[in-house]
Amino acid sequence: MTEVLVTGGLGFIGSHTVVSLAYAGFTPVILDNLSNSRISVLDGLEQLCGYRPVFYEGDVNNPEVYDRICAAHTIQAVIHFAAFKAVGESVEKPLAYYRNNVGGLISLLEGMQKSGISNLVFSSSCTVYGEPDHVPPDESAPVKPAMSPYGATKQMGEQILRDIPSIRTQCLRYFNPIGAHESAQIGELPLGVPNNLVPYLTQSVAGWRGPLTVHGNDYPTPDGSCIRDYIHVMDLAEAHVAALNRLLGGKSDSAFEVFNIGTGKGSSVLEVIQAFEEATGEKVPFTIGPRRPGDIVQVWADTQKVDNQLGWKARRDLHTMMKDAWRWQQQLTRPS
Ligand code: NAD
Ligand code: UFG
Repeated sequence: MTEVLVTGGLGFIGSHTVVSLAYAGFTPVILDNLSNSRISVLDGLEQLCGYRPVFYEGDVNNPEVYDRICAAHTIQAVIHFAAFKAVGESVEKPLAYYRNNVGGLISLLEGMQKSGISNLVFSSSCTVYGEPDHVPPDESAPVKPAMSPYGATKQMGEQILRDIPSIRTQCLRYFNPIGAHESAQIGELPLGVPNNLVPYLTQSVAGWRGPLTVHGNDYPTPDGSCIRDYIHVMDLAEAHVAALNRLLGGKSDSAFEVFNIGTGKGSSVLEVIQAFEEATGEKVPFTIGPRRPGDIVQVWADTQKVDNQLGWKARRDLHTMMKDAWRWQQQLTRPS
């Protein structure tokens, strides 16, 4: 069995990817410091994988953790999710973001070099495109000046990986992951008040929060609200398996390859609300508020490269994303 180290494997995207890895016959080895996840995620993973995945509680910044893991496992590849991800918080605490996201990546790469591991899948973001000159951006679109320290850490991460050809990297630029595993055994449960649209929306419908604020309806888009490319988290998880197969199958064209991971379809905030109502029969309480500083107007993925080269395609539609997000929300108990 091929063992794959999954840093941040108890987080939102990491946990769903652990399930996809197990379904595909890989053996995930999870490293997470629980800074933004709960240990109970392992119970859901056990249900879905059919076994309890190996878990190391530890920090990617700690070089000793790699010695410990590599002494016990034959790691063939790493999927690196562990990072901080809140854009607003990164403006308040830039050094914490640079230390965790850039410093953590450097520690990981040193650990990989020392242990002779040369295959990596890296979590990047469409945030590197900023407000693109042309929508949809393809992978050759210019990387724009970062709008936040968080965005800068993703750009720096990409640059560092380009500079280290001895590590073969699949760099995945995610668009907007939402939803949950269809079983509702795992999903997204941000600590505190959610910043992102869908977790706020589901918590609002569940009565945990006040009405959703739509951040602006005066943008130059058909209905005035911002447009994003929402992708089901299980589709995103499966993209990691495809990237891993490409790496381990020696099919990469170069040491650093980058792919847009989206559906290729944009949806506005108001369309998301409508899709939720249609998919679940629930009414979404919302008000229109002012624009949120730093929001880009519209972005969705050009998927031509990923369609042609990665052998992966998003399969789940917006209604499925909404149904699965709601099923997950419904079985949650409100954290005290
Ligand atoms: P998440 O916060 O749910 O998961 C990250 C996990 O990493 C958490 O379990 C956290 O405890 C862990 N972690 C953080 N720092 C760590 C450290 N130093 N050592 C060990 N574990 C650590 O986030 P997510 O949404 O699953 O995002 C995963 C990755 O994808 C991140 O790199 C994020 O920047 C990137 N990304 C996310 C989105 C999104 O919208 N969710 C979009 C684009 C890119
Ligand atoms: N929105 C609202 N009300 C809310 C929350 C969000 O109207 O309460 C709107 C936003 O203004 C935006 C859209 O919903 O127009 C999506 O916002 P999110 O916060 O869900 O997502 P973003 O596109 O701002 O950013 C997310 C992650 C970033 C990541 C990016 C691309 O937060 O880390 O997707 O992957 F880089």
